[in-house]
Amino acid sequence: MRFSFCVAALAASVLALPTPDVETPKETFTVELADGERRQVTEAEKFALKADGKNFFDITEFLDFTPSSLTKRQTVTYPTTLTQGTSVRSLAAKLSSSNMQTNLQPFTEFNNRYYRASTGKQSSDWLLAKVKSYIPAGSVATAAQFTHSFTQSSVIAKIPGKGSKTVVVGAHQDSINGNSPSSGRAPGADDDGSGTVTILEAFRTLLTNSTIASGGAAQTIEFHWYAGEEGGLLGSQAIFSSYSSSGRNVVGMLNQDMTGYTAGYTSAGLTPKFGVITDNVSAALTTFTKRVITAYTIRAYADDECGYACSDHASATRYGFPSAMIFESEMKYENPYIHTTGDTISRVDFAHMVEHAKLVVGFVVELGFAVL
Ligand SMILES: *[C@@H]1O[C@H](CO)[C@@H](O)[C@H](O)[C@H]1NC(C)=O
Ligand SMILES: *[C@@H]1O[C@H](CO)[C@@H](O)[C@H](O)[C@H]1NC(C)=O
Ligand SMILES: [Zn+2]
Repeated sequence: MRFSFCVAALAASVLALPTPDVETPKETFTVELADGERRQVTEAEKFALKADGKNFFDITEFLDFTPSSLTKRQTVTYPTTLTQGTSVRSLAAKLSSSNMQTNLQPFTEFNNRYYRASTGKQSSDWLLAKVKSYIPAGSVATAAQFTHSFTQSSVIAKIPGKGSKTVVVGAHQDSINGNSPSSGRAPGADDDGSGTVTILEAFRTLLTNSTIASGGAAQTIEFHWYAGEEGGLLGSQAIFSSYSSSGRNVVGMLNQDMTGYTAGYTSAGLTPKFGVITDNVSAALTTFTKRVITAYTIRAYADDECGYACSDHASATRYGFPSAMIFESEMKYENPYIHTTGDTISRVDFAHMVEHAKLVVGFVVELGFAVL
């Protein structure tokens, strides 16, 4: 180390070149791998953890926060009967799988959607423009970037309702090549292009209802597309941290991280199921969400776990907001191609994504018009 520094310094003085910063310590991050288990890692070590199947919060920008210091966890009593069937079914009939396909194709064509890459910013800008294009003239809905310390921005669409209680549906917009994060090809069709276009299609469809589009729902409805999920739930932590500080009242957050891979079932001659995640979520909201699945989709479901900090619902939970996570399958049938060049559009099942989109529409309309 010292030797190379001396050589560099000598070279610089002789050739009058700028001194290379060989002595600069490597950029490090603080990650949390379980409650209270913090570790200092480099970016390469972060991705080695992920490759090893270990998920984490990158809490570098949130070091002062611990979940035990939360003064208030939101508790909500959810409806035990669903009342919006006519309206949900008429909206669900408008969900278009070809629309999802048309949106997913260009989204997978960015070299990657890595949160620190210029292409990750371009994909975020593309997404924001697409979201805005679905807001009808005269609607009260808005869409904007939520910016971060890194290149990619999260995107938040808001449909104000009569009250400030807020229903959130989220998916992450970034993608990653696990072997070469910053520049490797990462189409991310399933992870999480599928969730991104699933909630985008639900958003488009909901705004065809004039009551919703004009602000007539009881609750405020938000759609979130998180940046930097693959870096340690960065976008969602920033957003829920900010919502917690500003006293926002989130009555339920539904996460959709991967909605399109069913080959694990179909190749075995089985019918696809949803995986209902039961760890790091709200049990009450999950029970409500199961009701919605049964009422409005053709899918059966099975309970499963995805581990600590597996996706953005964990950020909502961490900051005291009730969350639920419905996965494309049981974990044992999960997509083996994620984080590789093989996570392509040819491997996603748009009919399954339509079922996820029905779930989103049912969740939003039932919770959005409920008396809470
Ligand atoms: C829009 O949705 C609301 C809530 O479900 C429903 O009451 C209303 O009838 C719907 N409007 C139309 C035109 O379907
Ligand atoms: C989060 O999930 C992990 C892994 O399943 C579990 O050990 C932990 O207790 C969970 N924490 C909370 C707060 O639910
Ligand atoms: Zn993902």
